Amino acid sequence: MSFIEISNLTKIYESDADRVEALRGVDIQVEEGTFLGVMGQSGSGKSTFLSILGGLAHPSAGRIIVDGIDLYALSGEKLADFRREYLGFVFQAFNLIPYLTAMENVMLPLAVKKMSATQKRSQALDVLERVGLAGRASHLPSQLSGGEQERVAVARALVNRPPLLLADEPTGSLDTATSEEIMDLLTSLNKEGQTIVMVTHDQENCRYFHRRVLLRDGLVVSDESTGLAKSSSAA
Ligand SMILES: Nc1ncnc2c1ncn2[C@@H]1O[C@H](COP(=O)(O)OP(=O)(O)OP(=O)(O)O)[C@@H](O)[C@H]1O
Ligand SMILES: [Mg+2]
Repeated sequence: MSFIEISNLTKIYESDADRVEALRGVDIQVEEGTFLGVMGQSGSGKSTFLSILGGLAHPSAGRIIVDGIDLYALSGEKLADFRREYLGFVFQAFNLIPYLTAMENVMLPLAVKKMSATQKRSQALDVLERVGLAGRASHLPSQLSGGEQERVAVARALVNRPPLLLADEPTGSLDTATSEEIMDLLTSLNKEGQTIVMVTHDQENCRYFHRRVLLRDGLVVSDESTGLAKSSSAA
């Protein structure tokens, strides 16, 4: 069994006015340690796919199994536990809290953990170091560059040490040089064994992926290996 097994994933958004079939039966299996790119034009269903994979929105039909856990067979509370244990999320708009420092933003996912404040600070500092921002821990987001803010968002997604990192257009608002910096960071995390599923519509990012899935109108229209080998440290 693969680390992630997605079968017949279907999502229909329905209102009085209209009905959108955002996903129309998507099947994908992902091995642990893969850096997977999900691509496609605007409206093709990428964000819908990622939010269902992340346990944030229920599918209309289909199944997602991660590490043997059938996500949508879980109760709401158990699904929230799953998200806390298994997932880190990175979004395009960083979603940093403006009045909290980099360190405090990174510590947010640890709020519910039974750990001492000292332990939380030390774990947060570890990941800030990992993304090269230990020296900026006490800065507010407004005092950081776009790339630094995105790196804080990546650090926050990693502070729980989740086995799966989901990223929706993490380079979407960054210039080319800063995008490359973020992609290099994700690549080095992946080389340490982190499984990453990243949504992008930027062709430039392709060269970093092991595998690329292309969505069109809610369907997988191509699914191919890029030829880039997985690192041996990845399972
Ligand atoms: N909450 C919603 N209610 C109704 N329709 C929605 C909702 N969210 C998304 N859609 C529709 O579902 C389709 C897929 O949207 P989705 O956000 O997944 O696309 P995307 O590939 O992420 O696009 P983009 O590249 O612009 O971010 C689109 O037609 C969109 O309008
Ligand atoms: Mg989107």
